[in-house]
Amino acid sequence: MDLGLRNKIVLVTGGAKGIGAATVEAFSAEDCRVVLVDRDTETGTSLEKYLGSRVSYIEADLTNLEACKKAIEQTVSLFGGLDVLVNNAGFNDGLGLETPPEDFMRSVQNNLLHVYAMTHYALPLLRKGQGCLVNLGSKVSETGQGHTSAYAAAKGAISALTREWAVALAPDKIRVNCVIPAECLTDQYEQFFLSQVEPEAAKKAISKLVPFAQRLTTPQEIAQTIVFLASDRSSHTTGQLVFVDGGYTHFDRAVGHGHNKW
Ligand SMILES: NC(=O)c1ccc[n+]([C@@H]2O[C@H](COP(=O)([O-])OP(=O)(O)OC[C@H]3O[C@@H](n4cnc5c(N)ncnc54)[C@H](O)[C@@H]3O)[C@@H](O)[C@H]2O)c1
Repeated sequence: MDLGLRNKIVLVTGGAKGIGAATVEAFSAEDCRVVLVDRDTETGTSLEKYLGSRVSYIEADLTNLEACKKAIEQTVSLFGGLDVLVNNAGFNDGLGLETPPEDFMRSVQNNLLHVYAMTHYALPLLRKGQGCLVNLGSKVSETGQGHTSAYAAAKGAISALTREWAVALAPDKIRVNCVIPAECLTDQYEQFFLSQVEPEAAKKAISKLVPFAQRLTTPQEIAQTIVFLASDRSSHTTGQLVFVDGGYTHFDRAVGHGHNKW
């Protein structure tokens, strides 16, 4: 299927690693011009080199508002505009209720403010080209996790803003959607398993909790959904929270334990 994305200009925040890197690769495979914005210079630069001249790395710590603004400006100087913004950068920092309010607020700000800022600064460009926006949420905002208040708050806000912006930007023909992973096997997650006493057993235990196929989602599976939502093949889809999670968030808990064959 031709997704009709050739030559579209795409910016992916947190594009150096994990889901972001898979998303950069997937857009690049569709012949897009892609900017990846990330604070990890070494990984960002090597991905840029690996993918060739239609992919550019911009170094930025997105917790800095001026850096967000500059990243959009640099994208325009590099490629002349912006059609698709993917607000992917995020970090589950595991701050529970015992965390002092000041640290809670700082963490919410770190995960949330750049999503607003990048969208705000990109808006005139998206309006010009009837572009589109894809946010990354988390199942934590639906299910809770038990020890991550600030991250849950930030991701809950991102889901809410997806609906809010979809309504606000419908008159401009800008579609806004949110992709929600649950358990996706990124390098970072792999490192977490490696830090456990029995890494393979830990991975198996988590995999068993995923109802569909009892395995973790791959970054590529998330990326392909992002690319589809950014394409005209999903031209009447907006304001949606799309769970790419093997049924983790919504399936009956009995499923996956063999109790769904009545
Ligand atoms: N992996 C999962 O299972 C999972 C589950 C639910 C939600 N998510 C969400 O998906 C998105 C991608 O997650 P991932 O697992 O690929 O993460 P990751 O840690 O593998 O990669 C995130 C990338 O974003 C960059 N980044 C983070 N904060 C940044 C900042 N302030 N400025 C610049 N760069 C920054 C990091 O350097 C890194 O390259 C995140 O929003 C995350 O919350 C992931």
